[in-house]
Amino acid sequence: MATNRDDVLAELAVRVAATSSGFTLPATLPASGMSMLKEWLGEEVKAQRTANPNAMSVATIDADGTLSNRIVLCRGVDVEVGSITFFTNYRGRKGRALLREGWEKATVSGAGAPTPQQAAACFHWDASDRQARVEGLVMPCSAAASDAYFAARRWESRLAAWASDQSEPIGSRDALLAKLGGVCEKLKLDPQELLERGNDVVIPRPAHWGGFNLFARSVELWMGGPGRMHDRAVWRRAISMEDVRAGGGALATKAWSSTRLQP
Ligand SMILES: Cc1cc2nc3c(=O)[nH]c(=O)nc-3n(C[C@H](O)[C@H](O)[C@H](O)COP(=O)(O)O)c2cc1C
Repeated sequence: MATNRDDVLAELAVRVAATSSGFTLPATLPASGMSMLKEWLGEEVKAQRTANPNAMSVATIDADGTLSNRIVLCRGVDVEVGSITFFTNYRGRKGRALLREGWEKATVSGAGAPTPQQAAACFHWDASDRQARVEGLVMPCSAAASDAYFAARRWESRLAAWASDQSEPIGSRDALLAKLGGVCEKLKLDPQELLERGNDVVIPRPAHWGGFNLFARSVELWMGGPGRMHDRAVWRRAISMEDVRAGGGALATKAWSSTRLQP
């Protein structure tokens, strides 16, 4: 047993560190936190411990300044550009918070392009004692990207996207389901054909439904351990509204700086 105070303190640090063993970030942080985020997400998907390992909370700000938060599924991590992608209804509450000029402008580029809005996303992987936070500016995806994702969904989900006026009230569950008939009429879809051919039936994407890219200004990764001397680091970069409006190429060149944070 050490008796010298310095030796005792060194032993204490070793003991505390031991309880965090396997729960720390690399001593030398990688250049971009996005690559580690993608790795972590990939590990969770592979582990198949939960139904939705790609679930994340996304906080937005309504036009009147009110904050709101909900879970959505992360459908992509672009390490090069530094963005994460999710899909939703552009007319729902989060859609309105992120498209202040209206959903009709979602795919307009140039002068009439939507004003990028702030959002903050957070993943929590309990079994791994990990958390990832992404904060930045949001722009709608291209129509082509939204079309491609929409076309890959099951027919029931595609129909539901048409039927649900997300975030609006409805009298009953039956009234909601009854809207499916109206969608078939509107889109001239044969319900019998849908039942028989399902995913093979072409259902176009509603223009008010699509993706959003959250372009990161910061990415923070957190690892926990039994000893509670957790490990945490943040990667930051400066990006402007103009950079985000200009899209991928401009953002890929923005340098990240990393900092370890006290937990
Ligand atoms: C596990 C899980 C995954 C979800 N994924 C999505 C999603 O990818 N897109 C979406 O619009 N809503 C998703 N939702 C529903 C949202 O949490 C939310 O209820 C809905 O989008 C309406 O939110 P808003 O009124 O704030 O726009 C999900 C909910 C859960 C619990």
